[in-house]
Formats: sequence, structure tokens, C-alpha cells
Amino acid sequence: MAVLVTGGAGYIGSHTVAELLEKNEEVIVVDNLEKGHKDAVLGGKLIVGDLRDKEFIKNVFYKNDIEAVIHFAAYIEVGESVSNPLKYYNNNVAVSLNLLDAMREAKVNKIVFSSTAATYGEPENIPILETDRTMPTNPYGETKLAVEKALKWSDTAYGIKHVILRYFNASGAHISGKIGEDHNPESHLIPLIIQAALGKRDSIKIFGNDYNTPDGTCVRDYIHVSDLAQAHYLALQKLRRGEDSAIYNLGNGKGFSVREVVDVVRKVTGKNINAVDAPRRPGDPAILVASSEKIKKELNWQPKLNDLETIVATAWEWHSKHPNGYDDK
Ligand code: UFG
Repeated sequence: MAVLVTGGAGYIGSHTVAELLEKNEEVIVVDNLEKGHKDAVLGGKLIVGDLRDKEFIKNVFYKNDIEAVIHFAAYIEVGESVSNPLKYYNNNVAVSLNLLDAMREAKVNKIVFSSTAATYGEPENIPILETDRTMPTNPYGETKLAVEKALKWSDTAYGIKHVILRYFNASGAHISGKIGEDHNPESHLIPLIIQAALGKRDSIKIFGNDYNTPDGTCVRDYIHVSDLAQAHYLALQKLRRGEDSAIYNLGNGKGFSVREVVDVVRKVTGKNINAVDAPRRPGDPAILVASSEKIKKELNWQPKLNDLETIVATAWEWHSKHPNGYDDK
């Protein structure tokens, strides 16, 4: 039986597919390739199609023997979600409801869901615990939280068990150098700094220097994408053991300021990087750092690439070999 990975041609999805293939799992990827890259899918079966099409997704379950689902497919741009919230509700929420409905009909009762630290909004405590208040400050976080709630009630009503993984700042690239991060447009800090290191942009903007943090810039918890991938596999195993649904944070529990990240990229690449102060970006909390003690304790999750220099080195390796990203555009 296969594991269905929606959005498996995207950044975190493709790294999770790589992890599943290493574990000899049978993998089926569903992706509409609007944001994903077919070259990022290192194996398994790729079905190109759109989850907004109910008949399409029902057919995927009808025609394939699917044991469990790992659901990534979603839009992820916080800023765009503020200017176009319905686009986010339509893709992120409606698609997830189609998927759950198809699972219910096909009697597939295991799902791992890709969620986000954006569900917390401005945190009450640092580090953030899974039990802390969720109050998103943007539609992106709201749509992910809405799906989390649909999962909870689908468990109660239909017995579909879930593991919700709330990621902090996914970063880095696969150590094989074969897959990496390629968003269009790129909005994430580390790839943007690397673009500056590669001379593809003149400078990097530092959004806000007057936050209540040690150097005035925002602090984030960067986690290697393959450590995230490992967590998806552990979550799948938990569901296979017939355990209860659960929510886990995924971060390294250590915060780095924007200036510190720029310095790490300068050190790893040996390049001059011009960083200029710019106004705050709306909706950015000052500090987001995770407690991941729960997943360490319950699922024995052990991050392997948890040092920021190592994370940046893996990203640099991929970007320097693929300065224009994947070739399949
Ligand atoms: N930043 C800059 N300059 C840039 C880009 C980013 O200073 O050019 C800053 C941001 O203001 C933020 C930090 O760098 O303080 C990290 O920004 P990213 O855009 O890389 O990541 P975010 O923390 O905003 O967002 C990430 C994910 C989201 C998720 C969020 C919370 O990309 O999907 O974490 O989990 F919602």
C-alpha cells in the first residue's frame, strides 16, 4: 500500500518524499506543479492534478491502494494571504476538505498535516508549547488552523486519525545536493541572503531594527528540512501503531536574529553580503522559538542537522549548483 503525499513536489514535500523512499515506502505524489517542481520528486509515482477538483482526488483514492496521507499542498506566502485571503481559504481550506472527504469515502484513516508556527500568532511564551494559545495574525495561519480544527472533528466523527506538525522556519537542502528550496517568488530569509551572496541581488533588506530583541531584529527558530522530513516518517509510524491523534511543534529551540543569520551566511559562503535596514514587514512577530520536547519525548525525534552553520552550508551547496533553481520551469 502507498503513502499519498500531496504537494510532494514542493520544498518540504519533496524532502519528505526522499525520506520515505530511503525507508523503502511506496510513494504516490499528487501535485498540480503550480509551485512544485517535477525534478524535485526523486521517485515514486507522480500524479499531476489539482486537489480543488473533487472528482480528481476521489479517483486517486479509487484507482490506487492508499494507506495514509501526508498533506502539504497549500499556498504559503504570509504577505499574499493578507492581500488575497480568499485565495488562501479556497486553496488551503477547501482543498483539505476535499481531501478529507475523499479519505472518508475511501476509508483511509491516517493523515499527517503540514501546519505552522503561524497558528500561534504573537506568542504568549517563549519557547512556544503546543498547548499555548493559537491566535493567528494573518490569513495563512488562519487557514492552517481551520484545517487543524476540521481534522479534530473528522477524528471524532469518522475516526480519521491525524498528526499535526507545526513547523517553525524550515531551511537548508538535502545533503545529497539533489533537491533544495526554490520558491517563486522567493520570500524566505536564507535563500534571499544566498541570492545576494551569488550576486543575483545587490543586497538583502533587514525588515525592522527596532524589535524588542537583543539586536533589534526578529528572532526565528531555523530547522533543517530533512529533520522535518524525519518527523513526518515518525508521525506516520505513530499512526500505524494505532495511537491517538496529536499535535507537535518542530523547531530547534534556539533563536537566531536576522543579523545573526546574515553573519552565518557570510561566514559559510565567504562572500560579502550587503545588508540594509528596511521598515518592518507587517505581521512579523518579534520572536518565534519552539519547544519541541513533546515530539522528542513521544516519538524519539532527533534532529541531526541542528546547527545553523550546517543548515546554511547545505542550502549554499544546492543554490551554488542551481543558481536559477530547478531546470523544469
Ligand atoms: N526577513 C528579512 N528580510 C527578508 C526576508 C525576511 O529581514 O528579505 C526576516 C523576516 O522579517 C523574519 C525573518 O527574516 O523576521 C524570517 O523570515 P522568513 O520569511 O524567512 O520566515 P517567516 O518567519 O516569516 O515565516 C516562516 C514561514 C511561514 C510561516 C512562519 C511562521 O515561511 O510559512 O515561518 O511559522 F508561517
